Amino acid sequence: MRLEKVIDRKEIEKRVAELGREISEFYGDREIVVIGILKGAFIFMADLVRNISIPMKLDFVRASSYIGDRSSGSVEVVYTPSISIKNEDILLVEDILDTGLTAHVIKNQLIKWGARSVKLCALIDRKTNRKEITADFLGFELEDSRFLVGYGLDVNEKFRYLPDVFAIVNED
Ligand code: IMP
Ligand code: MG
Repeated sequence: MRLEKVIDRKEIEKRVAELGREISEFYGDREIVVIGILKGAFIFMADLVRNISIPMKLDFVRASSYIGDRSSGSVEVVYTPSISIKNEDILLVEDILDTGLTAHVIKNQLIKWGARSVKLCALIDRKTNRKEITADFLGFELEDSRFLVGYGLDVNEKFRYLPDVFAIVNED
């Protein structure tokens, strides 16, 4: 197994700065609540919020972990935010949309908790799968069906700390 770089840290830095500007312009000077989906979004969210120039509160949610079997389709919210969601404008932050099911389930939960609005910001949208949900703010669109790691993304908890995004290449 080896890693092949697919997005360089410099490209990420540039795109995250642009996303921060887009998001700040979209909301004007309204205060928002930024909710990161643990664990994968933590590095992206840390960089993103430092590029957003409006007031924010920050919190996290956690969904039941991703298991290879996508068709099983059961996602559960296992860690819930401690700050109030009711009547808030929420920016949900996800690392990668594959089927989009995780983000979709969490968005619905945030709406049930009384959020005024929920927008989705994702670092990567993997275009090879049909989507439950599309991102309102998107970093990168990839056609790559390979598993990606780095910049928060993991495989079995490994490689999250890498500053760039890599594809896992399985060699025989
Ligand atoms: P979805 O629910 O099918 O959109 O899957 C999204 C979740 O699975 C994300 O929260 C990721 O943590 C994880 N995931 C999907 N694809 C990858 C990948 O290529 N690398 C790392 N994590 C992934
Ligand atoms: Mg993961």
